Amino acid sequence: MSHPTYLLDRSRIEDSHTLKVAREKGAYAAFEAMLKAGQDPKDVTEVVKASGLRGRGGAGFPTGLKWSFMPDATKDDRPRYMAVNADESEPGTCKDRVLMREDPHGLLEGCLIAGYAMGLEAVYIYVRGEYRLPYKRMQDAIDEAREAGLIGEGILGTDFSLEIHMHQGAGAYICGEETGLMESLEGKRGHPRPKPPFPAGFGLWGMPTTVNNVESIFNVPFILERGASWFRGFGTEKSPGNFLCGISGHVAKPGVYEVPLGIPAREILEQYAGGVWKDRKLKGWFPGGSSTGIVPASVIDTPMDHDSIKGIGSMFGTGAMIMLDETACVVRASEVLARFYDHESCGQCSQCREGTQWLNQIFHRIENGAGTMADVELLESLSHGMTPGKTICALSDAAAIPTLAVIKHFRDEIVEHIEKGGCPFKASTGNAPAAAGTEVHA
Ligand SMILES: Cc1cc2nc3c(=O)[nH]c(=O)nc-3n(C[C@H](O)[C@H](O)[C@H](O)COP(=O)(O)O)c2cc1C
Ligand code: SF4
Repeated sequence: MSHPTYLLDRSRIEDSHTLKVAREKGAYAAFEAMLKAGQDPKDVTEVVKASGLRGRGGAGFPTGLKWSFMPDATKDDRPRYMAVNADESEPGTCKDRVLMREDPHGLLEGCLIAGYAMGLEAVYIYVRGEYRLPYKRMQDAIDEAREAGLIGEGILGTDFSLEIHMHQGAGAYICGEETGLMESLEGKRGHPRPKPPFPAGFGLWGMPTTVNNVESIFNVPFILERGASWFRGFGTEKSPGNFLCGISGHVAKPGVYEVPLGIPAREILEQYAGGVWKDRKLKGWFPGGSSTGIVPASVIDTPMDHDSIKGIGSMFGTGAMIMLDETACVVRASEVLARFYDHESCGQCSQCREGTQWLNQIFHRIENGAGTMADVELLESLSHGMTPGKTICALSDAAAIPTLAVIKHFRDEIVEHIEKGGCPFKASTGNAPAAAGTEVHA
């Protein structure tokens, strides 16, 4: 049951957020060795590429490949940047919070290595507004690292310089979308930009920019220090490494657990999260955050990796599992999610602006006894108008995909609501255990 870990190892040590403890426990060792050896920056990117690390922010894009999209510095001398996406607003997702709160120097070391590899001038860490303690810990860590000569001009007496700045969001889900994030960082409304141009060519202030998730960057020092083949010893061939699984909902022990990619979802549920709470049965689950679409309990033995989860018609997303027990109402759950997406749509695209509002209204009326059979078809046709790839960003897909999934797997339950004139689950679930991510687990 117990799998080897590395991401959360330092987090379990007292005062791991301080420079003294973090350094004693290995922080900055990979960066210092790289700097001392005068490693070719291109080789650093090659190691990350060879590791097969895939982005942990949702899309699973290979991190090393993304870095290699930055223009050649000998041909393009514009300043270049990285934005670390710490907005973490996908419902169910709460892993980056743990990393920033418990091991901020680990993230800074990843930023320094990325800065060296891509020749960055500055890194901006964009933190979700509600994350007060992680923000403070990150800012304190930056101050300590700067004092120690690890950030700023001429780092550790070399000619390598890098600035790292914090930026606090203001509570908008859309600012986690990479181009919305950049607009927000520039001081504008967080309205996603049409792509192309892509951030590597035209990012922050029109300069070459890479956007990476916290957990993606956090993996980098381990890869550099221990090697690409060590990293490939974890997980699967196409999805290597460990990941932080935030599991929440109707489970006995919600939390953030470090597990290898490819682990069966059942093992996470039963061996780590203590199984479905109150000895109830599982009804359905979201594999990787609310945008990934619910799947039935029957596929709980599926391995948690990108290809396997795609194979059951969902997505790995952020690896945040949301579990619903047999007493939960999937229509009510869909209504709650539809309301969220309606509220968070930035309104630039008509399909998303109107579609999210309609989904919200229709789920609301089905749940409250005013739905008709035509509503099921309306939900389907609206969703098909919203996905795939029909809008500026993927928020529209994020609202439509769960809708299509709930109709596919739980149509009978929706129809039951309509036929019975309301929700058959009124004596519903009671409160779920404390919010996931409050604990750090092995
Ligand atoms: C609506 C929306 C919200 C998003 N929110 C986040 C987020 O909070 N954190 C994150 O890392 N990525 C988020 N993403 C994905 C980012 O756009 C981007 O793909 C990611 O930060 C890239 O990092 P990675 O390659 O390291 O995974 C979001 C995407 C969309 C469409
Ligand atoms: S899809 Fe929605 S959130 Fe994304 S840009 Fe269009 S309106 Fe805004």
